[in-house]
Amino acid sequence: MTTTKNYGLTGLEELRFAVEDLAAATRFAEDWGLTRLDDSAEFRAIDGSRVEFVRTDLSDPRATPVGDASGLAEITWGVRSADDLEALRRELATDREAVIGPDGVLRSHDDLGFRLAFRITRREKVDYAVTRYNSPQQPDRIDSRAARYDRAEPFQLSHLAIGVDDAWQAAQFYLDRLGFRVSDRYANRGIFARCSAEGNHHDVFFMNAKQPGTRFNHLAWKVRDVHEVILGGQAFDAKGWQTFAGPGRHLVSSACFWYFLTPFGGSWEYAADEDMVTEQWEPQDFAAEAHIFSQWTFGLEKSDGTLRGPISGSRPAANDPRDPESMVVG
Ligand SMILES: [Fe+2]
Repeated sequence: MTTTKNYGLTGLEELRFAVEDLAAATRFAEDWGLTRLDDSAEFRAIDGSRVEFVRTDLSDPRATPVGDASGLAEITWGVRSADDLEALRRELATDREAVIGPDGVLRSHDDLGFRLAFRITRREKVDYAVTRYNSPQQPDRIDSRAARYDRAEPFQLSHLAIGVDDAWQAAQFYLDRLGFRVSDRYANRGIFARCSAEGNHHDVFFMNAKQPGTRFNHLAWKVRDVHEVILGGQAFDAKGWQTFAGPGRHLVSSACFWYFLTPFGGSWEYAADEDMVTEQWEPQDFAAEAHIFSQWTFGLEKSDGTLRGPISGSRPAANDPRDPESMVVG
C-alpha cells in the first residue's frame, strides 16, 4: 500500500484544550515558557505554533474534550496553500462535514472524536544561533562558552500522542484520508506517523494506552538542544510541576525528552534532537519490550531492572491480523 495523497501538510499548527480549571491550565502554559497572547488563554511558541485553552462546555463541540472532563478538543494542522485547503475540503466532504469558514479555516473531524481544523500555516522561519559542539578532532565552538538556559522557551510544536484502544485502527483515517505515512511502529501497540514525506519523524503517535478509550496522552514541544530540555525541565520542576518521565532519550525517534504531568490530563514534553526524515527513511517494527521507551533515562527504573513508561504496561491489540510489512505505507 503506497500513499499518494499530498495535501501540503506542514505539521501541528495549534491545539485546543477544553479544561475545567482554566487558571491552572494557563499557569502551566506560562510556566512552560510559552508567550501569552494579550489577555487571552492562547499561547505561542517562538515560531508561532500555538495552544489555546477554553473552559469545557459540552454544548459546544469545539469546547468538548475527548475522553475526560478536561482534555484535547481540537487539532489544527497547517497546510501550505489555499489549493491544499480546498483539496482537503473535497476529500473530507465525501463522508463528513467539511467547511472553510470566513476565517479561512477548514473545520471537520476525525474518526476518533477530535475536531480537526486546517489552515494556511502561520508558523514562521526564525533565525537563531544553532548550538555548536566541540567533538574530538572536529570542534565547532571555538573561543565561545556554551549557552545556558534559565528556563525553556519552546521553539515549536513537535508531535501529539493520543491514547487509543487500537493504534493501527486509529491511524487509518490519518493514513488513508490525509496522506500520513508510518515512520515506525512499536509492535502492535503504537504507530508513529508523519504528515509529510519529509520532516519530523512523527507528528502524531497513536498508542494503545493502559486506560481504555481515546484521550490526549501527550504533546511535545521542540526546544533548541538537550541542555534546554534539562535546564528548562529543572526550572519547570522548581515551579512545583510534577515529572511524568525523564529526562532521558527515546530509542524510537531519538528525542531527548522530559515529560511533565499537566493539570488537564496527560503530559507535555520538552523534546530536542528528534530524527528528521525523508522518503529514504525506513520504518522499523520495534518489539514491545520495556526498554523500548528510552535509550537512557533518570527516574524510570523499577526494582526489577525494567523501565516504567507509557507503553510498558499497555495491552497489545486483541486481534491483530496485520503483518509487520503492512506498516510500511509511506
Ligand atoms: Fe513524545
